[in-house]
Amino acid sequence: MFHEIPKSIQDRMAFLEAIDRRDRADGTGRLQRLRQIPPETGKFLALLAANAPKGGFVEIGTSAGYSALWLSLALREGEKLTTFEIMPEKIMLARETFWLCNMEERIDLVEGDLLDNADALCDVSFCFIDCEKHLYERCFAVMADKMAPGGLIVADNATNHYECIRPMIALAVNDKRFDCVTVPIGKGEFVCRRK
Ligand SMILES: C[S@@+](CC[C@H](N)C(=O)[O-])C[C@H]1O[C@@H](n2cnc3c(N)ncnc32)[C@H](O)[C@@H]1O
Repeated sequence: MFHEIPKSIQDRMAFLEAIDRRDRADGTGRLQRLRQIPPETGKFLALLAANAPKGGFVEIGTSAGYSALWLSLALREGEKLTTFEIMPEKIMLARETFWLCNMEERIDLVEGDLLDNADALCDVSFCFIDCEKHLYERCFAVMADKMAPGGLIVADNATNHYECIRPMIALAVNDKRFDCVTVPIGKGEFVCRRK
């Protein structure tokens, strides 16, 4: 997977990493920044997603499409990623990302909140939660019912924003349908497997 990343994807990842680095350094406001996962988290997500059961991938919080590109490496024949984003500036950048990387057929960018657009989702094999932290608990509650057997829900920021996402962690660990663990990679990935 990582040995065969198309040049268009490598170039776009490098471009988005440079923007993210610059904006973190120059004090760009939090909501304007891309707030992307680091590359090692991208690799971790792709490895997990590649071993998820057959089904669709979902991402909540597209930003400019950086983590979606990592997840796209794990898509198998006939599988798609559906990714949700609410900010128009980020949606524009993400559309550019998916167009430049020839991914428009494989990645469905939904312009809106998962919480208003979840009805059509089913048999989800992999879900990445990376939106505003106060929404994690509601996102988990919605996605828990949409997962295929063996499917994975992964939530970002499990160590750097542990206090903010603690309600979601409590909900998940008390849900007997899921086995969960926090992995200290990047900003902390909270990994839940649906039985
Ligand atoms: C941390 S960034 C996502 C970074 C992206 N996953 C990456 O690593 O490339 C969070 C994004 O979630 C978006 N967002 C916030 N609330 C949302 C919601 N309710 N539904 C979908 N996206 C949302 C924000 O606009 C922001 O772009």
